[in-house]
Amino acid sequence: GLGAINIPVYVHIVLPNANDVTNSQVQAQMNVLNDDFSNPNTNQLPSGATNFVNDATNTGITFTLANTFRYNDSRSSWGTNDAVKSAYPPITPSTHMNVWVCNIGNGILGYAQFPGGNASTDGIVLLYSSLPGGSASPYNLGRTATHEVGHYLNLRHIWGDGRCRQDDFVADTPTSDGANYGCPSYPTVNCQTTDMTMNYMDYTNDACMYMFTDGQRNRMRAIFASGGPRATMAG
Ligand code: ARG
Ligand code: ZN
Ligand code: CA
Repeated sequence: GLGAINIPVYVHIVLPNANDVTNSQVQAQMNVLNDDFSNPNTNQLPSGATNFVNDATNTGITFTLANTFRYNDSRSSWGTNDAVKSAYPPITPSTHMNVWVCNIGNGILGYAQFPGGNASTDGIVLLYSSLPGGSASPYNLGRTATHEVGHYLNLRHIWGDGRCRQDDFVADTPTSDGANYGCPSYPTVNCQTTDMTMNYMDYTNDACMYMFTDGQRNRMRAIFASGGPRATMAG
């Protein structure tokens, strides 16, 4: 099967003053991504969440900064219709993950394209202030990137974007009836199961999300297999 998977990353900073996001913030964001995708953080789980201890995993996926591009652009917000991607197109998206860092507007922290979509819009878009050290508290520890990369690697929201019966196509993530916010106490029970509110694919605060599951790991890694939608990235 597949061994370690490393994804080279191009970061495009698009702001009126693109230097407002520093190289050290970009590197801190890369460090958060690498830590979140490799450290199961089981020490952070509440006592009693023993089943979640067994589910938490290293994904075997790492990220390397390939280059950072800065574009000074006076446009004050970009929305979620991919305008930023048409203005500053992705570079070799078949082999590199493209990340646009800009002001999205409307309180949006980030959005992503699932695998298998149009190459010209492939990648993730992040609110500039969600990077580590940014001003978007409690969403300024860099976990918007972790969440959006989860989507980019085929993960759905943990509640399946529907009511209790809607699946996220991952067996070891419990069903829920909707997103959780803030920093929920344990146990938070919906749909007769304890929600995995600490999963990166929920909507909790950055400080309160810290795990992927084995099932999510397998779903992400499957897209890199021969014939999969990101097979060209596995080198
Ligand atoms: N709402 C965004 C999405 O669905 C991002 C949520 C990020 N959450 C966070 N704690 N940073 O893609
Ligand atoms: Zn999401
Ligand atoms: Ca599930």
